[in-house]
Amino acid sequence: MAIGNWKSVYCPCMRLDLKRFFGKKEKQEHRILRQMEHSGDNLQPEYHRATPECPHPERWSMFDSMTAEVEVLEFLRTLVTTIKPELVVETGTFSGISTLWIAEGLKANGRGKVVSCEFDPKVYQNARERIGKSELAQWIELRNESSLKMKVDGRIDLFFSDSDMPVREQEVRRFLPQISPNGLIVMHDASSHLQVVRQAALKLESEGLISVVLLPTPRGLVVAQKRAGRS
Ligand SMILES: C[S@@+](CC[C@H](N)C(=O)[O-])C[C@H]1O[C@@H](n2cnc3c(N)ncnc32)[C@H](O)[C@@H]1O
Repeated sequence: MAIGNWKSVYCPCMRLDLKRFFGKKEKQEHRILRQMEHSGDNLQPEYHRATPECPHPERWSMFDSMTAEVEVLEFLRTLVTTIKPELVVETGTFSGISTLWIAEGLKANGRGKVVSCEFDPKVYQNARERIGKSELAQWIELRNESSLKMKVDGRIDLFFSDSDMPVREQEVRRFLPQISPNGLIVMHDASSHLQVVRQAALKLESEGLISVVLLPTPRGLVVAQKRAGRS
């Protein structure tokens, strides 16, 4: 067999071994998408590690380790039906599951839109396909760009920060002037184990920019509000 043909004849596990051999590590997002393609959206108990604030993560459910916990998805949808936002901004689309749950809330409200950005072209394309197949596309504007470059017009009523953890602080600072004083900022992955997002939120609070509530979920969730303009 010619080595040039290995891609088409080798089984997937051997392909992975060859990738490792040649030093090309598959990106986590791509690996999880490949698994999802193979086995569909399957619910399983949350397996992120226990923390002092959330000692029983297995009581929560998840589709995969990238997509927010199912209870967090439910919470997002309920936030949307509760505060009835005109404009939701989400950073980090991944497979589009959280975007779709937000869009379900918008549909129930009969108004509003969610702008969601995903900077990885392959991941973006996958989300586009999932959203295209859903009945919720009319509520969603998907962007293939970075949260640190994306421009959104208008006042943001709900900001869901779920991109790369190290850029969350920068992201919130960037969009803060546009976020409504009556609106909400939700930051995912803010558990005491993951630290970086938790510390970012507490830093923004210590600077007087936002007021923070730390929800004790497996991966941690910040619900915050901007301080400027509150009456
Ligand atoms: C945790 S996943 C998002 C999960 C998704 N919100 C959900 O719950 O279904 C993070 C995603 O953000 C993307 N990402 C990372 N940094 C980004 C940035 N600065 N701008 C846009 N997307 C980013 C990654 O490629 C990845 O797909």
